[in-house]
Amino acid sequence: MAMAKEKIVLAYSGGLDTSVAVPWLMEEYGADIITLTIDLGMVDLPAIRERALQVGAAKALTVDGRETLVNEFLFPSLQAGAIYEEQYPLATALGRPLIARYLVEAARAEGAYAVAHGCTGKGNDQVRIDVGVAALAPDLKVIAPIRDWGMSRDDEIEYAQARNLPINASQSRFSVDENLWGRSAEAGELEDPWREPPEDAYSWTRPVGETPDTPAYLEIHFEQGIPTAVDGESMAGTDLIRHLNALAGEHGVGRVDHLENRLVGIKSREVYETPAAVTLHAAHKALETLTLSKEQARTKVRIAQEYADMVYNGLWFTHHRNDLDAYIRSTQRYVTGDVRVKLHQGTCTVVGRRAPQALYQHQLATYDREDQFDHAAAAGFINIYGLPVRTQNQTQPE
Ligand code: ARG
Repeated sequence: MAMAKEKIVLAYSGGLDTSVAVPWLMEEYGADIITLTIDLGMVDLPAIRERALQVGAAKALTVDGRETLVNEFLFPSLQAGAIYEEQYPLATALGRPLIARYLVEAARAEGAYAVAHGCTGKGNDQVRIDVGVAALAPDLKVIAPIRDWGMSRDDEIEYAQARNLPINASQSRFSVDENLWGRSAEAGELEDPWREPPEDAYSWTRPVGETPDTPAYLEIHFEQGIPTAVDGESMAGTDLIRHLNALAGEHGVGRVDHLENRLVGIKSREVYETPAAVTLHAAHKALETLTLSKEQARTKVRIAQEYADMVYNGLWFTHHRNDLDAYIRSTQRYVTGDVRVKLHQGTCTVVGRRAPQALYQHQLATYDREDQFDHAAAAGFINIYGLPVRTQNQTQPE
């Protein structure tokens, strides 16, 4: 009786790298390869599943991770205000830990001894997946064929041709990753930071010159920091994000050209398209200006940066993240209300905000007759507030 072969679960996108990885892993490890394709927003699961079987997968699994991505990863990061280096809303970085989690689940269900992924040895993604798997299943081996095999792109194509693998010829010139929160592009001409990104580096957003002359206004409703409706229509998170990606993308909103600091020490030029995330972060922040105290708002800016670094650096499955989440969640209790946003020729501007429990009080702010601010008390307040300044200047002139 033949011994059952060992199993490896490979995160499979259907691209060249992971397609070549299937026969390579079979040959190097003598294992059965089970592919796992995860829909985080923009993939054609049946087509990719078909390709997986064609390139030799023993079994091709698929999972729809969209709702989980939105509810457990994207919205918490929106509430946190997490934007890496003030530019990148972290789409790819937020998808990776979920991929790690699905890999671990599939490995357990299938009885695999290892998981594999198609990350290179230069990027952040290898760290996010390896560390994610290490956190969830310290005993599982992680194999990264592209990191290990030392093949160039041309080598991969030759390897595929020698084995008659049906590979996807219509590949972008750029290295692209997409999920609901955004599209990341790198490599090719983008590696010259002096050069303006060519138009075909973009695909979700219109160039400003081709956007409508008339602005679009929209009203976004938030419940405790989570967007739940647009223009009065309640929407599930995935639909709301898709709707905003289309609408804001139409107006050229969400292009980011970022020279960023990778965890592995490299500076790298990345082009992102992230229309919904840019719009939602702007709206969410505006609602917080109305509902958080000055101290809360300022502390939150620091926490947002810490949160963004934590996500970017692959530390999602950590106690540190749980601690940060507890703080963030607590800040969001009154972040409920509406924000009016204007989309116009590449810009997204907040033009109105309202909240039932706003800290903004018209009767305190107004210069009109309804004014309830105690002007006389201001003089006493300033007398005490200025006391140390007066004292120092009287006793220590100059
Ligand atoms: N630099 C971004 C990040 O680390 C995006 C990486 C995108 N990956 C890709 N294969 N293009 O999150």
